[in-house]
Amino acid sequence: MASAKRTHYLALVVAVLVGVAAPGVFSVTDGLVPNGNFEHGPSKSQLNGTVVTSRYAIPNWEISGFVEYIPSGHKEKDMLLAVPEGAYAVRLGNDATIRQRISVTRQMYYSVTFCAARTCAQGEKLNVSVTPESGVLPIQTVYTSTGWDSYSWAFKAKHSTVWLSIHNPGFEEDPACGPLIDLVAIKTLPPPHRITGTMLRNGDFEEGPYIFPGTPWGVLLPPVDEDVHSPLPGWMVMSYTKVVKYVDSAHHAVPRGARAVELVAGRECALLQEVATVPGRRYNLSFAVGDVGNGCVGSLAVDAYAATATAKVPYESRGAGGHKRAGFVFAAVANRTRVVFHSSNYHTKSDGTLCGPVLDDVSLVSVGKHAARRLYQ
Ligand SMILES: *[C@@H]1O[C@H](CO)[C@@H](O)[C@H](O)[C@H]1NC(C)=O
Ligand SMILES: *[C@@H]1O[C@H](CO)[C@@H](O)[C@H](O)[C@H]1NC(C)=O
Ligand SMILES: *[C@@H]1O[C@H](CO)[C@@H](O)[C@H](O)[C@H]1NC(C)=O
Ligand SMILES: *[C@@H]1O[C@H](CO)[C@@H](O)[C@H](O)[C@H]1NC(C)=O
Repeated sequence: MASAKRTHYLALVVAVLVGVAAPGVFSVTDGLVPNGNFEHGPSKSQLNGTVVTSRYAIPNWEISGFVEYIPSGHKEKDMLLAVPEGAYAVRLGNDATIRQRISVTRQMYYSVTFCAARTCAQGEKLNVSVTPESGVLPIQTVYTSTGWDSYSWAFKAKHSTVWLSIHNPGFEEDPACGPLIDLVAIKTLPPPHRITGTMLRNGDFEEGPYIFPGTPWGVLLPPVDEDVHSPLPGWMVMSYTKVVKYVDSAHHAVPRGARAVELVAGRECALLQEVATVPGRRYNLSFAVGDVGNGCVGSLAVDAYAATATAKVPYESRGAGGHKRAGFVFAAVANRTRVVFHSSNYHTKSDGTLCGPVLDDVSLVSVGKHAARRLYQ
């Protein structure tokens, strides 16, 4: 009875939201944006081969530059292009952009997730933007055996109607050498208030970007500048070009709850959070380390740093899932302390893709002034 009422209420809310949106502007709910899987395509007259010839040919989207509409199974230079969902994807060639107008709530935070596959260009990047914010995501490292990875990015809405754009800033001799894009989704993120009772925000990683239910490869959290918003609330990914992988319990062995992070890029990529501390006071940092059960076999280890303390937490992985808790007590030396994690080493699965230890359930509590610094595992 109560659930029927709630469904009814939700239907009403959705109807009201849809009702107030201007025609052609999509009101955000968590999931795919309209035609975010590109299953609705151009008519024959708007295509020359695979090249889209008209700005508004792909329903719900506006394009510019060299954009192709690629059917699954399309063959090219002996390369068979498969599509992660449905039968179609788009390819962004030289200086190509796809964009869509969406209706959001001002001052709210959102994450964007999309699937991309690099093709023949070197050093491929994508510029994702919601004016006035933008982020250039490196996509040259492939983290799956299919070639398709999901990427995330976040923004804070400055206006109630915004353009969500994905742009390939690259220039190649072959204008068709650009990344494929499929599945574009959006998700609201909680505002950045610290949850009372814990010093760390989102230490269990339950808040994060949208994960497509049908994709077993998680979502990549690319490095972002310090002053921009993170799709993983509370946390920052610091690296030159490498990423942290966000994984779900539907497809991975997650130590606790429904989400965790897999540190897939060795020492080249750090995950960190800055917290307010009192100099001289001691803190207990503890966390779960394990493997997500994806065949990442070997002597995994996580390096953790806080103030002047460091710890290496080894974990022997059979690749079948499992975890243990570890941590240490440290004394703060400043009024801000960065808690930093990375994988001690590089690891690959039998299919050659990168993998690493899983990190979950990070907690930081003050333990007063006199506890001695020690590592416990
Ligand atoms: C289709 O593309 C080819 C190759 O770029 C070009 O030569 C041709 O003129 C185009 N056809 C139309 C109808 O635009
Ligand atoms: C990314 O796109 C935005 C919006 O078009 C633009 O303002 C920004 O300069 C671009 N960044 C780069 C590095 O090209
Ligand atoms: C630190 O926290 C962990 C996990 O909550 C706990 O097992 C450990 O005893 C604590 N250590 C200290 C010194 O308080
Ligand atoms: C604490 O932070 C304030 C403001 O950021 C700074 O002025 C002050 O020097 C800091 N104190 C210490 C002990 O780091």
